[in-house]
Amino acid sequence: MTSMRKQKSKLNFVQSLPSPNSFGEDTLLIHDKVLIKANSHFASWAHQFTAIYPVKAGESLKNLDYFPHHMKKLVQLSHSYNPRLLTLVVAGGGSVGDFGGFIASILKRGVRLVHIPTTWLAALDSSHGGKTALNVSQGKNQIGTFYPADEIYIVHKILHSQPKSRALEACGELAKIALIDQSKLQGKSWVDQLEVTQGTPQQLLSRFLKQAIASKYRVVHKDPYEQIGHRQILNLGHTLGHVLESFMKLPHGIAVAQGIFFALDWSLKLDLLSKENHSRALNLIKNKLCLFPLNNTPKFKNKRPSVQNARAILLQDKKRKGCHEVTFIFLKDFGKPIRKTVLVDQLIEEAYSQGWIG
Ligand SMILES: NC(=O)c1ccc[n+]([C@@H]2O[C@H](COP(=O)([O-])OP(=O)(O)OC[C@H]3O[C@@H](n4cnc5c(N)ncnc54)[C@H](O)[C@@H]3O)[C@@H](O)[C@H]2O)c1
Repeated sequence: MTSMRKQKSKLNFVQSLPSPNSFGEDTLLIHDKVLIKANSHFASWAHQFTAIYPVKAGESLKNLDYFPHHMKKLVQLSHSYNPRLLTLVVAGGGSVGDFGGFIASILKRGVRLVHIPTTWLAALDSSHGGKTALNVSQGKNQIGTFYPADEIYIVHKILHSQPKSRALEACGELAKIALIDQSKLQGKSWVDQLEVTQGTPQQLLSRFLKQAIASKYRVVHKDPYEQIGHRQILNLGHTLGHVLESFMKLPHGIAVAQGIFFALDWSLKLDLLSKENHSRALNLIKNKLCLFPLNNTPKFKNKRPSVQNARAILLQDKKRKGCHEVTFIFLKDFGKPIRKTVLVDQLIEEAYSQGWIG
């Protein structure tokens, strides 16, 4: 089923939630529980579905240990539906999207999938590109499928009713795409454009949302199944990011931002990135996107992973090559990420010297 699926999802930018009837007669909704309280119309909208499965968002939802329990319930809920007519609608942030997308890819050997991303991070990044995932022990996204949604609805009212902290989390992924994408708008790079745009993180996300989505698809379409390696550039900031996310339970986007600070400093140290572009990138992330490196704060130092913790998590990383190496994304210039194989030991030494692990 996976290889037969179309890579292109139909994207819909809408003001309000789409009518459940538009998805057909047999519909199963998986949604983040918080949406009932977070959005006044959500509860009455959700009750129009023929079957509903509310979930608690977060990394534990993606934990393999709890998966059989969820799967049994979902099979019961959908047992009377015709597999070819069933549409699974998944409304939530990236964790719910990764979980729900995985279910869509295996339930009845694959059913129609609609994503309604409800966090900025999911709207900008995780709902696009078809990656679904579950975590195994501390290893993030160890199991998964490529299963692009048939349709994705970006709902203005839902995104704009989120608390401000959610916007900061998405800014880590916005920074990533702005640094790696080489497309230009009116002759200006992403970084040039962001530097001259005023606004809060939420306003910047709203302003650059469509552009960020288009950038992600440009990368994904060149390497939809991550076979030639090009898609790995989307992992800028994710190697150390995943270590911090798994060990410190940092929100994904905040952890990715820390990983980007690490990658930028390492790129500078290896003379890959110029001093000027290094400081422009840092200024952008700190002053425009309001994200700051945590490595020198006392609170971080007390909670950071040890060398042993970091090694154990890195050895479960999917970007690992053999037992001792990992593919790491450096930045050479704006729009010029480079993939390099580094020793896990080198990475650990660098993370230690920058104060990310202790
Ligand atoms: N598949 C991919 O390509 C991809 C890419 C990037 C990230 N991810 C995954 O995405 C996850 C991170 O995404 P996330 O930050 O959206 O996580 P999330 O789903 O855990 O949501 C973050 C928080 O926001 C809450 N929330 C969701 N919608 C809300 C709303 N409208 N109003 C108020 N609160 C709301 C959730 O309950 C949760 O507490 C990670 O698991 C990461 O691995 C996947």
